[in-house]
Amino acid sequence: MAKPTRLLLSPWEASFEQAMPQRWDPESYAEHARFVSELGEPVADVLDPKPGERILDLGCGDGALTERFRNAGCLVVAIDSSPEQVWAARKRGLDARIIDARDLPFDTEFDAVFSNSVLHWIEDPDQVLASVWRSLRPGGRFVGEFGGAGNVASIRDAFIAALGARQIDVASVDPWYFPTAEQYRSRLEAGGFSVDTIHLFPRPTPLPGDVTHWLQVFAQPFLMAVPDSDRPALIAELRARLEPRIRSADGCWIVDYVRLRFAATRPR
Ligand code: BEZ
Repeated sequence: MAKPTRLLLSPWEASFEQAMPQRWDPESYAEHARFVSELGEPVADVLDPKPGERILDLGCGDGALTERFRNAGCLVVAIDSSPEQVWAARKRGLDARIIDARDLPFDTEFDAVFSNSVLHWIEDPDQVLASVWRSLRPGGRFVGEFGGAGNVASIRDAFIAALGARQIDVASVDPWYFPTAEQYRSRLEAGGFSVDTIHLFPRPTPLPGDVTHWLQVFAQPFLMAVPDSDRPALIAELRARLEPRIRSADGCWIVDYVRLRFAATRPR
């Protein structure tokens, strides 16, 4: 019998997937976006997982970073909205599930919730925080990193110019939530968390290849705003707009990432 190439989805999982504006292909992710989990190592260090701890990885992607927690002796549950990524994470032997981060089905059962490079994709940050808070035991910690204010500004600006010239309202397709440290601290506190640390920092990120790969992996909601026939021209235009801003003299593309890193606790 031929091996299945993706997960069989329940009706709920299928409708959740349909609603997602962005798709992840594990192969192209591994080729063009491996830096996401590699550069997530420092925030995993902040989590400082201990053997035997129960950890929820919120937005596990293909599970590359999640494996590290399992290897440290933790009991890990990994969730993601992408069936393809969940499939890739399961191939690593992880307990990975398709779950909506805004509606986690867990009740005071984790010692920590960890999240790398995902929270900027999810609408309704307050709903996510309420969901994380319910999932943690009192005293449990929520540690994460995602895009903060000013993140990938060069790319957002290029889309504003290129889509604006096509009379497309960029705000209506822009899926990214990049708050300041003050804004996210307020949300964490309003959600009942005690904030241990939170800070914003620039992290210029060299790409392994051409910026057009980045656009195709990470910026689908913007690219899908134009008809298929116009997409190659849009991508070429974006590349030309971005070149003077984020391509170095030696030809390397260096994207202007800005990270927001935080550690918070559900009080006892
Ligand atoms: C980020 O990790 O900061 C990011 C990833 C994809 C799109 C935008 C931002």
